[in-house]
Amino acid sequence: MTRTTETLTPELHAYLVAHSAPVDDVLHDLAAETARLFPDRVGLQIGPEQGTFMTLLARLSGARDVVEIGTFTGYSSICLARGIPADGTLLACDTSEEWTSVARRYWERAKVADKVTLRLGPALDTLRALPEEPQFDLAFIDADKEGYVGYWDELVPRIRPGGALLVDNTLSHGRVIDPSETSAPVQGIRDFNDHALADDRVDLVLLPIGDGLTLAHKKA
Ligand SMILES: C[S@@+](CC[C@H](N)C(=O)[O-])C[C@H]1O[C@@H](n2cnc3c(N)ncnc32)[C@H](O)[C@@H]1O
Repeated sequence: MTRTTETLTPELHAYLVAHSAPVDDVLHDLAAETARLFPDRVGLQIGPEQGTFMTLLARLSGARDVVEIGTFTGYSSICLARGIPADGTLLACDTSEEWTSVARRYWERAKVADKVTLRLGPALDTLRALPEEPQFDLAFIDADKEGYVGYWDELVPRIRPGGALLVDNTLSHGRVIDPSETSAPVQGIRDFNDHALADDRVDLVLLPIGDGLTLAHKKA
């Protein structure tokens, strides 16, 4: 028994990944190609254990309609799409034609392309153009950190009662608790964490997965 969470050394992280469901060839090749094409941007991609967790969460929650804010080369979208049924839908939002062109290829390879609709453009505009009514079971936010509060405010009314929101990078590599850290992305995350906690439409937990992953459950 313990009341704390284990600090993950690189070795313990490798052990944890090795003792989770193995990553298949599609995700393995996508991670490798992303690293080759965009070596300065590999840190944008979620890790393998987070991807598996998101597939299982989508499956366990029975999610059918999912929205993702921040798709990059497609790793998290494939994990989410794999967790929803064959008639499920995933609305993928991003601004980059270049990065999402890689995602499009891998959606085909992963055989999830039929579930995915890509909307290119600022995600806030994409969300505001949707009817303001419950239509998604699950949302994943992983884009510009200064935009998180805005995404949250547009997404919560569009999540069905009993649905969930996942929000990435909510620990900012520990910088959220460093008072000398005043950058706009870190302040954006702090503002978001306070904003979401005060929202009585949801219950939430901030988990030490990846760089911090907030899981919120919209009350029925
Ligand atoms: C951290 S990456 C997403 C990583 C992705 N979830 C994955 O697992 O590979 C952030 C993405 O957000 C996108 N982005 C940044 N600002 C955006 C905005 N205003 N609207 C939509 N997408 C945006 C970027 O183009 C980038 O692809």
